[in-house]
Amino acid sequence: MKSVLLSEKQIIDRINELAEQVADDYRAIGVQEDITLIAILKGSVYFLTDFSRALPMSTKLEFMVLSSYGAGTTSSGVIKILKDLDTDISGQHVLVVEDVVDTGNTITWLYDRLLERKPKSLKLVSLLRKPSAHGLPIPVDYIGFELPDEFVVGYGLDYDERYRDMPYIGTLKKEIYSN
Ligand code: PRP
Repeated sequence: MKSVLLSEKQIIDRINELAEQVADDYRAIGVQEDITLIAILKGSVYFLTDFSRALPMSTKLEFMVLSSYGAGTTSSGVIKILKDLDTDISGQHVLVVEDVVDTGNTITWLYDRLLERKPKSLKLVSLLRKPSAHGLPIPVDYIGFELPDEFVVGYGLDYDERYRDMPYIGTLKKEIYSN
């Protein structure tokens, strides 16, 4: 690792804040029903488990696997559904849980696909956002941290499937991903 950008404590503290804020906002508009959390695998798995347990609301969990990235640090821009939802989300309050919005291509594409399924409401929460994702045509309702435009790993984020299980988020030494 080159440097730690977000410590384990910083991440957990912020997730607890986000969860309170999300719950307050749903309560403020009178939502009493379950919230369907849709986690986009694999990167969001650690965020989902901590966030869902911090969220003081009744939730259902759904998972999607999308493919947009190759085994490196750059985006191919092509998105495919590799695993779809198990249930019909029409009439449900849906909250998409992402680890990072980088270019925003994934979440922008997914937002329209999910709206077509007629959820009662649709919101997005991302633990991280990169600078290139500002000014997207869709709302990213909740952001944990704004990151600099650097390649980061840990807490679900990988390089070539490694480093997801690190409890903090940090930058990799360039020689690791430039070979
Ligand atoms: C990452 C991340 C988001 C997406 C964000 O997934 O989890 O889904 O890229 O990038 P974008 O805003 O530029 O579209 P990735 O395809 O790397 O798969 P993974 O979650 O399995 O690591």
